[in-house]
Amino acid sequence: MPAKIKGIVRVAIIGPGGISQAHAKGYLKHADKIKVVALCDINEQNMKKRSEQLGTVEWQFGDWKKMLKEMANDIDAVDICLPHHLHAPAILDAAAAGKNIICEKPMCMSLKEADVIAKAVEKAGVTYMSAHNQLFMPVVQEAKRMIESGELGRVYWLRSQDCFIVAGKREKWGWRADFKTQGGGELIDTGYHPTYRMLHLAGAEPVDIKAQMGRFNNEIDGEDMASVSMRFANGAIGEIFTSWAINLPAETHHIHVVGEKGEIYGSNDTMYVRPKGFQTAAKRDFTPVDTFEAEIGHFAECLQQGKRPMHSVEEGRKVLEVILKAAESAKGWEKTAVLKL
Ligand SMILES: NC(=O)c1ccc[n+]([C@@H]2O[C@H](COP(=O)([O-])OP(=O)(O)OC[C@H]3O[C@@H](n4cnc5c(N)ncnc54)[C@H](O)[C@@H]3O)[C@@H](O)[C@H]2O)c1
Repeated sequence: MPAKIKGIVRVAIIGPGGISQAHAKGYLKHADKIKVVALCDINEQNMKKRSEQLGTVEWQFGDWKKMLKEMANDIDAVDICLPHHLHAPAILDAAAAGKNIICEKPMCMSLKEADVIAKAVEKAGVTYMSAHNQLFMPVVQEAKRMIESGELGRVYWLRSQDCFIVAGKREKWGWRADFKTQGGGELIDTGYHPTYRMLHLAGAEPVDIKAQMGRFNNEIDGEDMASVSMRFANGAIGEIFTSWAINLPAETHHIHVVGEKGEIYGSNDTMYVRPKGFQTAAKRDFTPVDTFEAEIGHFAECLQQGKRPMHSVEEGRKVLEVILKAAESAKGWEKTAVLKL
């Protein structure tokens, strides 16, 4: 286990664009534990915006290699929020510099890269956290607790979904439109969330993965909708459905689990529980959680207490493996993709 960090953890955000705005809220909320001391981006406007949100970040760089060298003694960790093709190179440089790492999904774009990352992180003896923020959704946390405690009995079937409409022309999509910088389509991006939720809840090895993909509303190289079915080593059956072309289908939820003693389903801070034999489900409301604030708090605690993050390199690799196998199984879907904008 990496050495515990005494005092406030000093972080540099690499790629402080869109999503780093949500991470920054986490740093502000947990200011007694963790603080952003440097920013690194090729876009000065983006650094300026994030610096203002965080209350002026003095150190700003355009090159992360230069930053890691010049701030060798002044940062404990990096928070990587770069386009997908830059995750692996930034992780490897940060690990080589002995920095702890939190990285946005996906960890990288290939299993070969994932294996190199696993070795580099182990060799450097640093902490790596996969920024899987939706693990902190109250409905996911409670479902995990209920499954593990046996309240649902044997789990037969699980569904995990994330869908929203972002119909758009190619120029709006930037690096996400291009297979080379995105590494796929919707599934390796937003679809990462329902995939890690599914693996987290199933708690078993996926042994067979098959997918269908389509592209309906978005001018991107990859798919904008994916439906993945899988079977786990314990016999459970899982379905992932994810899309940028439609919203969550009516009356469906982020997660749904059916076991021998009943079923649970819900989204975000709400869960419905229907024990076997009951006609209706009871609604449970949880205190709302900002999942990004929670993930930054978890990262700080792991570094200060020497704990392993809930999801690290192994989980990041497994999610990627499922996604790549799904994409491989769906090959040929482009032949029937009819894009209408
Ligand atoms: N957890 C979530 O819900 C969620 C939501 C959105 C995005 N993300 C993830 O966050 C990551 C970033 O996505 P985004 O939407 O913020 O993208 P973005 O394009 O808004 O931000 C990326 C930033 O990286 C910078 N950048 C590009 N090349 C660079 C380089 N060589 N050196 C330094 N900076 C560089 C860009 O200038 C930009 O500021 C992706 O991995 C994405 O999948 C996660």
